Amino acid sequence: MKIDLLSPDSFAAGQPHAQFDWLRANSPVRWHDEPGGAGFWAVTRHADVYAVDRDFQTYSSEPTIMITDPLSEAGSFGPYKMMLMMDPPEHAGFRKLIRSEFTEPAARLRKDRIQQLATQIVDSVIARGECDFVDEVAGEMPSFVIAELMGLPLEDGRELYKLTEIIHTAPEALPPGAGGQAVLKMFEYGSKVMAEKRARPGDDLASRLLACEVDGRRLADMEFLLFFMLLVDAGGDTTRNLLSGGLLALMENPDQYAWLMADLDARLPTAREELLRWTSPVIYMRRTAKHDAELAGQKIRAGDKVVMYFGAANRDPAAFERPDVLDLSRTENPHMSFGNGPHVCLGQHIARIEIDAMLREVLTRMKDFELAAPVEWLASNFISGPKAMPIRFRAA
Ligand code: HEM
Repeated sequence: MKIDLLSPDSFAAGQPHAQFDWLRANSPVRWHDEPGGAGFWAVTRHADVYAVDRDFQTYSSEPTIMITDPLSEAGSFGPYKMMLMMDPPEHAGFRKLIRSEFTEPAARLRKDRIQQLATQIVDSVIARGECDFVDEVAGEMPSFVIAELMGLPLEDGRELYKLTEIIHTAPEALPPGAGGQAVLKMFEYGSKVMAEKRARPGDDLASRLLACEVDGRRLADMEFLLFFMLLVDAGGDTTRNLLSGGLLALMENPDQYAWLMADLDARLPTAREELLRWTSPVIYMRRTAKHDAELAGQKIRAGDKVVMYFGAANRDPAAFERPDVLDLSRTENPHMSFGNGPHVCLGQHIARIEIDAMLREVLTRMKDFELAAPVEWLASNFISGPKAMPIRFRAA
């Protein structure tokens, strides 16, 4: 089996499940070459991904969590780091700053507003009977939600989300330097937000971040910008890809779609978790070994890159019954789509509310979905999902 987990071609039709199946069965911690880089270990079994994600003492999130990082193309950030790329205890100090905004009760307070946004999004396409589901429906929700969280105009959420998409695209599929430029544009926008929120603080996350303290001091400008970029990046195309990939899975599995529709409200929670497992929007997170270690019989050396493939873990027969079957009624579902350990997705409760609101709205108001053209997938080895998915539908 030819293994290539770097080329965007391997992801041109979704996650490379044939490669993952072979790796899990034959070489679950496998050395992978990296043109122009040091190479990395590809980890594909559920138990090993789980263990690496939790063992921050061995597997560090520093200096970065991408195999090749567009942030490093944008230049140096001095002593400053993004929370996603810190280890405990430093990480805990930063996560604490915004944790309370993202608890389950805090997320629930946003439910009505998120439902309103879902209605508004479907209103804008319902009469047409066709749309690009990715751009016009799925992508709108996380763009609007991040704008609301940060206290920005909804339209600006759209622009930021376009930058996220570039940052998450494999560098090979972009003009040289485009990833770095997108990062710089994100910083430019973040600097404007910083100036505006300092002058006129509001009741939003950006204003609260500027007012809070870590180690008895305010955040440095660059720390704010890195936080800003993390929040915009993390919640954007992930949620969008779950929604588009989720609808596609329902179209491809009519029996499952019918089962869900027979009692949508009651069945949505297990269905949503299964769609998370099935689509696995985040392909991987990278760690770097702090010291020599052993993983599933392989000797890992200090400094080696170790890459956790969540989509592979999510189809591991040792963790899931009939992993290759979409089963929306699955109750034993320890999927890793939100990761695990200290960095487990901070936005997962908001993401679930966004997903439920959007799926409920789409599935109750639209029906008879069909593809109007073949799905085009993102050219990314980091984030998985449809880039364009033109559909036809009828109003229900
Ligand atoms: C379907 C949607 C989403 C998926 C699949 C997803 C997935 C992930 C994954 C895999 C991680 C890394 C976990 C690890 O290293 O173990 C992560 C981290 C994170 N996510 Fe999400 N995410 C989603 C939505 C969101 C949303 C809506 C937000 C915010 C509004 C968000 C904010 C974050 C943040 C801030 C982190 C970094 C946490 C840390 O470093 O402590 N995510 N997410």
